[in-house]
Amino acid sequence: MESAVKLGKVLVTSAWPYINVIPHLGNLVGSILSADVAARYYRLRGDEVLLVSGSDEHGTPIEVEALRQGITPKALTDRNHARVAELFQRWGISFDNYTRTESPVHKEFVQETLMKIYRNGYIFSQETQMLYCEHDQRFLPDRFVEGKCPYCGYERARGDQCDMCGRLLETTFLIEPRCVICGNAPTVKTTRHWYIDLSKFAEPLTTYIKNNQQLPANAKNFSLNWIKEGLKPRAVTRDVEWGIPAPFPGAEGKTIYVWVDAVLGYVSATIEYCRRIGEPEKWREFWFDKSAKTLYFVGKDNIPFHTIILPALLLATGEDYNLPWNVSATEFLQFKGEKASKSQRIGIWIDEALELFPADYWRFFLMVTRPETKDTNFSWDFFLEKINADLNDTLGNFIHRTLSFINARFNSEIPQPQKLTPDDEAVMQTVKEKVEEAAREFEDAKLQSAANMLISIGRIGNQYLNEKEPWNLIKTDKERAAAILYVAAQIVKAIAVVSAPFMPSTAEQLWQTLNLSGSVHKSIWEEALKPLAAGHKIAKATPLFRKIDADEKKLDEMLAKIREKPAKPL
Ligand code: MF3
Ligand code: ZN
Repeated sequence: MESAVKLGKVLVTSAWPYINVIPHLGNLVGSILSADVAARYYRLRGDEVLLVSGSDEHGTPIEVEALRQGITPKALTDRNHARVAELFQRWGISFDNYTRTESPVHKEFVQETLMKIYRNGYIFSQETQMLYCEHDQRFLPDRFVEGKCPYCGYERARGDQCDMCGRLLETTFLIEPRCVICGNAPTVKTTRHWYIDLSKFAEPLTTYIKNNQQLPANAKNFSLNWIKEGLKPRAVTRDVEWGIPAPFPGAEGKTIYVWVDAVLGYVSATIEYCRRIGEPEKWREFWFDKSAKTLYFVGKDNIPFHTIILPALLLATGEDYNLPWNVSATEFLQFKGEKASKSQRIGIWIDEALELFPADYWRFFLMVTRPETKDTNFSWDFFLEKINADLNDTLGNFIHRTLSFINARFNSEIPQPQKLTPDDEAVMQTVKEKVEEAAREFEDAKLQSAANMLISIGRIGNQYLNEKEPWNLIKTDKERAAAILYVAAQIVKAIAVVSAPFMPSTAEQLWQTLNLSGSVHKSIWEEALKPLAAGHKIAKATPLFRKIDADEKKLDEMLAKIREKPAKPL
């Protein structure tokens, strides 16, 4: 059942989470979880897939949090990296490599790559004025400073980017800047920095973005607009201690700008993985073979770093790197209409979620609410509807009715149909079309639509059983009942495969109940439409899901209870 020939190479990646905090569901949905679902799909297709990401450890968000906790940045990231990596496992994320930006392979790769770009003449240094806090006696790059966005007027824009309009900023652009440590107004101080001249890449970047058929509209429009507004040189160094030391001559004491550091992690994580498996040159197949696909899952605020900064860095090396094949950028998941906020406790964090319900429930729910075209809103009502109505009543019920009927009335053997009616043929044809449609949605990174296809297959099966009523027919026309259960069993098999990327444990449990060989995750997508043979024996069915017997108020209370437990150090 295993596919022998690998079809193509697919590198699936997700934005590297800042490791100053535990991610919340909104962080997870568009990046890590989406990447895992896509990677699992491509593996089923028979592609050679690598799923890589890592902890983003450098940068001011980490330093600010470490200062707040009174520990070193390294102590903070060591602890959080271990914890988050473990949580991702519990979420069923099938990483080939989940690494970190403190990894020696990464640090060396970043320094070498920047030196290459420097030698190619795209990096220059220049004296400049930077914000400085006299009180804290430090420069204030990036998130060490907040102020008003000069473009859209948002009051709490950060030094590197405005959360409201998404534009990249320089700290000195901010109107009425203030130091996030002490709140005082900074002064300016002269310092020297190293810049990459992005304007040199305006043309190839425009061509790349325009010709990229996969890039969704949000990524395309944002990026083309930015190029039109004029690409300016962007500093790649910072006056902070925590980070990768800048390798340029004369840049002693400076570190690399966190985003330049992090986006190069996609390459270094591939290198690190290939070394680990003892094929140190293999990473080139993913980064230089033109047939390889590289697929990035990010939140919309990360678009410019993946469609402009990363491609510019790769182009600047002068080596023929693959530029992102697709950057699937999700909008935001809001919580009861508001942006998630740790300090205000708005949102649900990925550790808490698992204390409430199994990972597969969340995975399924997050994929059907994946904010693909607009911000979407989390509410318990919607959660209950999706889990109870779609997952339990539609999908679970159909599977359980079918399999337990076969257990009870056909001695657990897939019945032999004497003949299939046009109705039977029609329902199998519709399921086939849904499976094919799901595949097309997966390939467009429309994971929400693919998840909805899964539910439609369950709905088709349920309707079919309700119309045909095999539980009545069995008394009068066993032959006909047998044909119906044969058809229903085929639909269950399709569900086992199509659900595998979304709900890996549940799909595996179903696969085992169907008594199929190996693991569904080592199987192939085409198995969805390969019939279970008549006479094939299945195991005893147990319900895959349970209805959640709670209302909004009760769920809020359950969450509050989890939060009352002594806080883990994060
Ligand atoms: N750490 C960033 C964030 O959480 C994302 C970094 S994506 C990478 O917004 F590509 F740079 F790694
Ligand atoms: Zn703005």
